Amino acid sequence: MLTPYTDSSPFISSENDWSEEKILDSIRQMKEELRQRVVILAHHYQSDQIISFADETGDSLELAKKVSRYADREYIIFCGVRFMAETAKMLAGPHQKVILPDLEALCSLADMATSNDVESAWETILQFIPPTVIPITYINSSSDLKAFVGRKNGYVCTSSNADKIIRHALQEGERLFFFPDQHLGRNTCYQMGIPLEKMPVYHPHLPSGGLSEKQIKESRVLLWHGYCSVHQGFSVQQVKQVRKKDPDAKILVHPECPFDVVEASDMAGSTSFIINHIDQAALGTRFAVGTEINLVNRLAIKHFPVKTVYSLSPFQCLCTTMYRIRPFWLMKSLEAVREEKEFNHITVPEETARMALKALENMFRQS
Ligand code: 13P
Ligand code: SF4
Repeated sequence: MLTPYTDSSPFISSENDWSEEKILDSIRQMKEELRQRVVILAHHYQSDQIISFADETGDSLELAKKVSRYADREYIIFCGVRFMAETAKMLAGPHQKVILPDLEALCSLADMATSNDVESAWETILQFIPPTVIPITYINSSSDLKAFVGRKNGYVCTSSNADKIIRHALQEGERLFFFPDQHLGRNTCYQMGIPLEKMPVYHPHLPSGGLSEKQIKESRVLLWHGYCSVHQGFSVQQVKQVRKKDPDAKILVHPECPFDVVEASDMAGSTSFIINHIDQAALGTRFAVGTEINLVNRLAIKHFPVKTVYSLSPFQCLCTTMYRIRPFWLMKSLEAVREEKEFNHITVPEETARMALKALENMFRQS
């Protein structure tokens, strides 16, 4: 039986009491000591220090798939944001515990669609159209929302399989309801030939989502009014600046960027797509990249001086919640495992997990 951690627990000391060197040394030692019991998974947006301790890195889909490879580990320490850790918990075995080193590491995009708001939107749109609407939730969503989708036999998708999932779902139903990221939905569907006017945006806080009966009836895809505040910051103006100053540079962006940015860029894809594309490019290629800054800086250092990589934006595009997973909290997570203390365990209610898993499995079957 694990002792729960409380703020007054002696094993937690303040981050300021530790030098960086001591923290990193301590992680190194405990990771080695606990290597049979713990696996550390890290998303590409984590800081270099966290990445250096990861057993596995990946985009959202890869990390979700990697969970099953570590069924022998008692603990999964997930260095990413909460929806990723919740997904890992649902995909892990009942004997495994998932730790998110900082429970405040949320995703502002995931928080833009609550399951209550989506359920009431669902009722609203079904007043106007037959029930042949397929719900698709981006993996950047709460487990409650994934459970809602599972109950309707819909799909989860990620940035790396959205086209496959959407293509498949469009064969099953006349219409899609896609949430929470309007940009991923719009960018992917437009690539498949769906015109913009067939993809109206549903605003959860407006009556009837701010849409007329005609708009809903004539839609092919209803997009939720959600966006990632990090990727929303990239603009066509920045693309034009790069084209002017560095005309040979390739512009590579994440599909969470706004439609006009993706259209003006050379390519869009998931974080792993961006990494692989730059890895495989010819020597001398130059890239302006529209995604989170930790990843862009890591790619710039990795390829210097044979390829040039820099951010599309002159501003710091940091995902501040990913950045909450600092080495100190990774150290505390390992320390809790070693001392048999309960610390930042992720839990998902059983029925929610059961229905959310249905939506995740529907995705895995197609990708
Ligand atoms: P990827 O699945 O492409 O890694 O994206 C996750 C994410 O949160 C991007 O903002
Ligand atoms: Fe969420 Fe955006 Fe951060 Fe990705 S970059 S985790 S979508 S807030």
